[in-house]
Amino acid sequence: MKDSVLKFYDAIAEDYHLIFVDWHLAIARQSEILNNIIQSKLGLSSTHNISILDCSCGIGTQAIGLAKHGYDVSATDISAVSVKRAEKEAESYGVKINFGVADFRSLETDVTGLFNIVLSADNAIPHLITDEDLYKAFQNMHAKLQYNGLLLVTIRDYDAMVKEKLTTTQPKVFDDGKRIAFQVYDWAGDGKTYTVNQFIMLEINGEWKTTHNRTEYRALLREEINKVLKATGFVDVEWHFPVNTGYYQPILTACKN
Ligand SMILES: C[S@@+](CC[C@H](N)C(=O)[O-])C[C@H]1O[C@@H](n2cnc3c(N)ncnc32)[C@H](O)[C@@H]1O
Repeated sequence: MKDSVLKFYDAIAEDYHLIFVDWHLAIARQSEILNNIIQSKLGLSSTHNISILDCSCGIGTQAIGLAKHGYDVSATDISAVSVKRAEKEAESYGVKINFGVADFRSLETDVTGLFNIVLSADNAIPHLITDEDLYKAFQNMHAKLQYNGLLLVTIRDYDAMVKEKLTTTQPKVFDDGKRIAFQVYDWAGDGKTYTVNQFIMLEINGEWKTTHNRTEYRALLREEINKVLKATGFVDVEWHFPVNTGYYQPILTACKN
């Protein structure tokens, strides 16, 4: 994983909500869909005493929503600045979450206890560029699950993306044209990794302010992930697609047995 990842998320933590049309609505919608998947996979009748470790919580988009659903949530991230903001947001939502700073490649040593569910949402895993790092992350997530625990990962649809090799996203225009967000992708020659250039433009008193940050991703294919999951001891691997779930990207579930 490149240093640019930490730098990127520390830099955008204060503005992260601006890439959503409505971040608060996203919190509610995403947690509802994730809750449905959890209920169906674990056959739960209640969220009471069900523990979740969100190991790439960012500013708390999924952790806060799931805590509102009644789960017992712990949330960690490599970006201390994001975790600090997540703590503040959780407080304003009136939910209790046990926060910490941790790299998901070393959860086994950095986080205490075992969980019913380990979650990593919104394309955090593809920040790992090498196979070695991927194995480490999934081994550590596996180590943090109780037996019969559920791994939940959401990830961009790279199987589709590598075919199109998109170089930019459509600009998203919010707040009556006063806020514009878009990304520009620079692909590596072998097509296996790419740099995301994230632009956020804000009009303040007639002046436009643009912030630009960049980070690197691996275009991680489902087959590559399935192989690592199998090697790290996960079973019952399933991919759930947006057309069925209503979530904005594919959701992976797998179990520890
Ligand atoms: C796209 S953000 C998603 C954050 C949050 N899940 C959300 O949807 O708002 C990806 C997150 O992964 C975190 N991350 C990246 N690499 C990580 C690592 N090795 N260990 C823990 N967190 C990591 C970043 O700091 C960032 O907060």
